[in-house]
Amino acid sequence: MSTGNGRQFPDGFVWGSATASYQIEGAAKEGGRGPSIWDTFSHTPGKTLNGDTGDVACDHYHRWPEDLGHIADLGLTAYRFSIAWPRVLPGGRGPLNREGLDFYSRLLDGLLERGIQPVATLYHWDLPQDLEDAGGWPARDTAYRFAEYAEMVAGELGDRVHTWTTLNEPWCSAYLGYASGAHAPGRAEPAAALAAVHHLNLAHGLAGQAIRRAAPSAQLSLTLNLHVIRPADPASEADLDAVRRIDALANRAFLGPVLEGAYPDDLLADTAHVTDWSFVRDGDTAAARIPLDVLGVNYYSTALVRRWDGTGPRSEDDGHDDAAASPWVGADDVEFIRPDGPYTAMGWNIDPSGMTELLLRIHREYPGQPLMVTENGAAFADTVSPDGVVHDPLRVDYLRDHIAAVGTAVDAGAEVRGYFAWSLMDNFEWSFGFDRRFGLIRVDYDTLRRTWKDSAHWYSGVIARNGLGD
Ligand code: NOJ
Repeated sequence: MSTGNGRQFPDGFVWGSATASYQIEGAAKEGGRGPSIWDTFSHTPGKTLNGDTGDVACDHYHRWPEDLGHIADLGLTAYRFSIAWPRVLPGGRGPLNREGLDFYSRLLDGLLERGIQPVATLYHWDLPQDLEDAGGWPARDTAYRFAEYAEMVAGELGDRVHTWTTLNEPWCSAYLGYASGAHAPGRAEPAAALAAVHHLNLAHGLAGQAIRRAAPSAQLSLTLNLHVIRPADPASEADLDAVRRIDALANRAFLGPVLEGAYPDDLLADTAHVTDWSFVRDGDTAAARIPLDVLGVNYYSTALVRRWDGTGPRSEDDGHDDAAASPWVGADDVEFIRPDGPYTAMGWNIDPSGMTELLLRIHREYPGQPLMVTENGAAFADTVSPDGVVHDPLRVDYLRDHIAAVGTAVDAGAEVRGYFAWSLMDNFEWSFGFDRRFGLIRVDYDTLRRTWKDSAHWYSGVIARNGLGD
């Protein structure tokens, strides 16, 4: 058990918690909401653990006043949530569904009344099914539809949103959605996945411009799940090259266009046998590059890779999914090895040093770029004590050690503006359904009752002190 060593954070450091629409809202067919790819996927037999769906989830759509109470009682200074595109534009394009928009409008008012900064993500994976039917993210048109959606929503909700985030973890949308098929829409088409990468980057840029026009005083951001990739043998050129390959696919495929206005040459070369990247048109990467007030970083664990010598079965323990296909397009000679433990219930290794390393890398490569840890947290097999309480010391340890690791990066100069714990409450963990619990607050899925875990009480204390206790 580690201690926080009394670490304090800078004045004004943002303490938040995060959720996403499909994971908590439920009410899948209410209020004029249209179907999304996650409705279709979760209702397809065999796609999610136990056949779980987000039809009801945490029923946040109806219980939001209670959830707002928990947000306020925790003392959160910011709350990160996502807007369901199919609730606002049921078919993915206009006209606006006023009833859907009003749901978010009420939530925003409630947050602002309580002095909590709203951080709204426009896309946390629930693509309107009609747009997938028209080609999904591998189709260029989806980027334009996203920009229109962003313009409409930002025009309506505008500056009541403190920070607009265009996309959450486009890595997952592209590679898990279209290469491995572990996530909706469940396609395993490597070339399409790279087209999806590009159209997501383009969508981010076009939407970012639209948000700047519609909500000029709001902050603009993007959230990436940047990977910390380590070589099995740091002295092996081959293993270091495997790191470079995965870094290109996982990190630089997004950082390049979005922060530098170009795709890295090695990414294009590494994947030339998969696609010629002709879907990138003149001006696209310039459009994707838009100054970000803050770059959101989601961090959970690290990856360990080596060059596969072609003999024996290839190890693919990348911690992301157990699907048959690999999300790592074109990197067929790279092996993922399970890093040393301990592990969370996701099977992900716990390594807070990766958090510091990642924040400092971004700070070094993009000096002056403000950062925000928009997700960090852990799933554990929580148990409810006879007195109805959830003692989750492992989650408290995880959060404390990672918050301390953020502090180390801050001390070393990284401009980290805040930290969001994933998640406010247990919720629909995508292909793992309700089996994996990340919440600070427990949700009993039979009664939908919310109960604070020990970690919620602990985090509330961190916020009150603006720092870790001893
Ligand atoms: C990243 C995603 O943004 C979120 O939706 C997910 O639940 C967590 N990580 C945990 O896997």
